[in-house]
Amino acid sequence: MKIIEVKDYTEMSQKAAEYIIEKVCQNPKINLGLATGGTPVGTYKNLIEDHEKNGTSYQNVTTFNLDEYIGLSGENKNSYRYFMDEKLFNHIDINKNNTNIPRGDCKDIEEECLRYESLLANYGGIDLQILGIGSNGHIGFNEPGTTFTSQTHVIKLAPSTINANARFFKSIEEVPTKAITMGISTIMKSKEILLLVSGENKKEAIGKLLTGKVSESFPASVLKNHPCVTIIADKAAISGLKSHCQ
Ligand code: GLP
Repeated sequence: MKIIEVKDYTEMSQKAAEYIIEKVCQNPKINLGLATGGTPVGTYKNLIEDHEKNGTSYQNVTTFNLDEYIGLSGENKNSYRYFMDEKLFNHIDINKNNTNIPRGDCKDIEEECLRYESLLANYGGIDLQILGIGSNGHIGFNEPGTTFTSQTHVIKLAPSTINANARFFKSIEEVPTKAITMGISTIMKSKEILLLVSGENKKEAIGKLLTGKVSESFPASVLKNHPCVTIIADKAAISGLKSHCQ
């Protein structure tokens, strides 16, 4: 894993955007894997600014999001579809038909899992996957204990995840208790992974990732088995850890 330490959230967001823009320029038909949560918001803001200033085009880019809450339709302000439209897609020249997010409001959610997994395969998989990390080590919504062989599946959210994500909702009762998420093996099939980590509250998680064992009890640890992972982490999250593990 390559680790890039940056000063703060702003610098992480700049570096991450530069990284993505370079890949899009190299391959305008890139399949991008995208994440939600607070971490990538600044990165998306920079992608929009660059699109406006420099004209980087997403016309031929296809995107696949990691996950979606079960029970929320795309019109719901707390859905990840709404989030992605708001934070990125509405502000760049991407064709919305090329933006894929698992549907959380399907009648047959198991069918939706299969559909999403085969859609990914039909597109030849993800070239660059952007990831955040949950403080319990989740990636996508793969909570501790998820098997490394998992494909797109339904997951019961951990209480700590519900707590952490309650900040986006009016009350904690509104946070869905289940989600549909790419599995660990789905994520690991990505050709390249960019993990973004910011803030003191992620220090324990990144510490475990860098110094701990590879174990299903800490999902992000699987990234150590991937041949091409870059971590951009800010000082608040990583200072003191990096030298310890290199
Ligand atoms: C969320 C998302 C993840 C995200 C993580 C961290 O629940 N499902 O994809 O990486 O938790 O979120 P944040 O960036 O807000 O800390």
